[in-house]
Amino acid sequence: MSDSLDALQRHYLETMGIQVWERRAPDEGSGFRVQASRGGEAEPRPAESAPAALASAQQIEVLSGDIRKVEQAPADPEPSTLNPEPVSSLDWEALEQRVADCTVCAELVANRTKTVFGAGNRNADWLIIGEAPGADEEREGQPFVGRAGQLLSAMLYAIGLAREQVYISNILKCHPPQDREPKAEEAAACSAFLQRQIALLKPRVILVLGRVAAQQLLHSEASLDSLRGQVHRHESGVPLVVSHPPAHLLRTPQDKRKAWADLCLARRLLDESRGSDA
Ligand code: URA
Repeated sequence: MSDSLDALQRHYLETMGIQVWERRAPDEGSGFRVQASRGGEAEPRPAESAPAALASAQQIEVLSGDIRKVEQAPADPEPSTLNPEPVSSLDWEALEQRVADCTVCAELVANRTKTVFGAGNRNADWLIIGEAPGADEEREGQPFVGRAGQLLSAMLYAIGLAREQVYISNILKCHPPQDREPKAEEAAACSAFLQRQIALLKPRVILVLGRVAAQQLLHSEASLDSLRGQVHRHESGVPLVVSHPPAHLLRTPQDKRKAWADLCLARRLLDESRGSDA
């Protein structure tokens, strides 16, 4: 992170309700601090090993990155017949098309106008993963475009990142009706798509926004508060940081400080990872 904030970054921090309150003394290194919660300074610790309670094995079985229909699975045009190539071998374009063609989750398919695949830089070091598209996102076919999306852009800008420098996706590629939480079987059915996005992108750091997304990716039932503020590892080995989703921050601005600490932690991981390449 650069050691001084420009006026726009300051503006964004203020917009987010983040008070820049302390400059480090010269001997503490450059940069600035914001009032951080416990989270930002937590020691890295291995991923939780709680059982993968979210996967609903009776309904959907995800095998080697491919989705196969099993006993009680919803009506589906049988991906393995119509789309013989496994998800795990698709390139970006074919994967996006497979997502658009997916009909695995009957309720989501019946209510959707379009899928929201993900957006951003396909060479990005940062991957941001949210829960599921909302109505605004479905309308535009892009993740995080509503008010929450604007806040996310502001937060990224404040740590020196433009939207064009990151890749953003969601656990679910369809908007759940009435903005309800994704069901476990929907998340399981969609997970091969996200796993393939991660494999294609090869990010250096993953920022996960929200409890549902974090629990799904970490196979954990722990609360968001206990998952945030520390370094986990995605099963691909990529360091992963959990934080509050921007929609929550709009409702609960006092948690912006914690989200800021999480972003700074993720930024530090990225800088360290780039440094270790040098
Ligand atoms: N919240 C999410 O989790 N994803 C979006 O795309 C928008 C809001």
